[in-house]
Amino acid sequence: MASNWNAHSWRGFEARHLPTYPNAEKLTEVEQTLANFPPLVFAGEARALKADLAQVAAGKGFLLQGGDCAESFAEFHPNNIRDTFRVLLQMAVVLTFASKQPVVKVGRMAGQFAKPRSSPVEKIGDVELPSYLGDNINGIDFTPESRIPDPNRMLRAYSQAAATLNLLRAFANGGYANLRQVHQWTLEHIGKSPWAAKFSEMADKIGESLDFMEACGVDPSTVPQLKGTSFYTSHEALLLQYEEAMTRQDSLTGEWYDTSAHMLWIGDRTRFEGSAHVEYLRGVNNPIGMKCGPSLTPDALLAMLDTLNPGREAGRITLISRFGHDKVEAGLAPLVRAVKREGHPVVWSCDPMHGNVIKADNGYKTRPFDRILSEVKGFFAVHRAEGTHAGGIHIEMTGRDVTECTGGAVAITQEGLADRYHTHCDPRLNAAQSIELAFLLAEMLNLERADKRAEAA
Ligand code: PEP
Ligand code: CO
Repeated sequence: MASNWNAHSWRGFEARHLPTYPNAEKLTEVEQTLANFPPLVFAGEARALKADLAQVAAGKGFLLQGGDCAESFAEFHPNNIRDTFRVLLQMAVVLTFASKQPVVKVGRMAGQFAKPRSSPVEKIGDVELPSYLGDNINGIDFTPESRIPDPNRMLRAYSQAAATLNLLRAFANGGYANLRQVHQWTLEHIGKSPWAAKFSEMADKIGESLDFMEACGVDPSTVPQLKGTSFYTSHEALLLQYEEAMTRQDSLTGEWYDTSAHMLWIGDRTRFEGSAHVEYLRGVNNPIGMKCGPSLTPDALLAMLDTLNPGREAGRITLISRFGHDKVEAGLAPLVRAVKREGHPVVWSCDPMHGNVIKADNGYKTRPFDRILSEVKGFFAVHRAEGTHAGGIHIEMTGRDVTECTGGAVAITQEGLADRYHTHCDPRLNAAQSIELAFLLAEMLNLERADKRAEAA
């Protein structure tokens, strides 16, 4: 167990991007209420995810992590949860089918509410207000009242996370995720995309394989892996007051877990030496992600790995690189080399979103799809060159037919962004763009597999 650690030891460290609550008494009251609420996830589930990720770290699987940039109270609707879940299922099937590797599915869902912002203030015209920090902290409306941090929002976030997780568990195990349903997962609005036909072709082949197995006496309706699926949740562990209140000791092992999600990650802005966020996460036993951006040096990364994973447990750490399409090859290679040299077991995952934000001429924050693809290709190129496993993808996406990122097969133009731009923070891939990305990933994973086969021969 981590030494000199407890769930509140982070309070003695430098905490960036945390709100200042005007009403300290109210905050304490909410923290105490949350601390008595049931855990959202169980230690055993977090350990199961860790075991799955250990396989990925060993080169035997792929991590698919995706969902909203910021979940919101306004967009809370069962259809939104279902649509994001089914696009993730579709992507997972494409990846599994092509790579012949298990795909570990983790949603940026059921708790992804707090946001680090590049500026603490937002200015519209002559009015300057504190920035929006996520629905569990303050409101997105551009009014002074709405931007005041309100601890009660944590209770609403907890309840939304609980209801979301409940539905996700039902979808994952109640029949919806049965592979026999693979045709039904297609959303009407991706019908316009040429990739919809490709998905349908693949779904036919899967159906045939299931028929074949049934004829051989394996009844797919009773095989747990075909009948349902494992689906995990994750979010950035940013709002430490909330995470601390959700921390519980596992009665089986005595270890501490953050029970607000299966996996938590540290953002690029809070992963510095001496950070309160690092202090908190080093002591909980969940699988942990860490964003790796252009300012991270190999030495700082190695020091961070020693802090977060001194026992070098496989599956504990996922490193999520987010350099930008033009920086990934030069920036990622030295990190990969250092980690490999020191023998740290990690999952390498690619976030092709956060280094590729631009402002469109009409003022919309967007991400060009070709830059996203280009960062993914750069990520795979580095791992092929270094002989390491390109282990995962981390994306901001939604099952809704939004127009937030430009490009893709159903080309979204800069002018088109205004049509259906709904995100509470960063621009997300829509369903069609997500499926298109999955087919590209499948191609890359096939190349990696071909390399491995050639090596073995
Ligand atoms: C995010 O994942 O939403 C995020 C803020 O990313 P990063 O920490 O990499 O900037
Ligand atoms: Co984001």
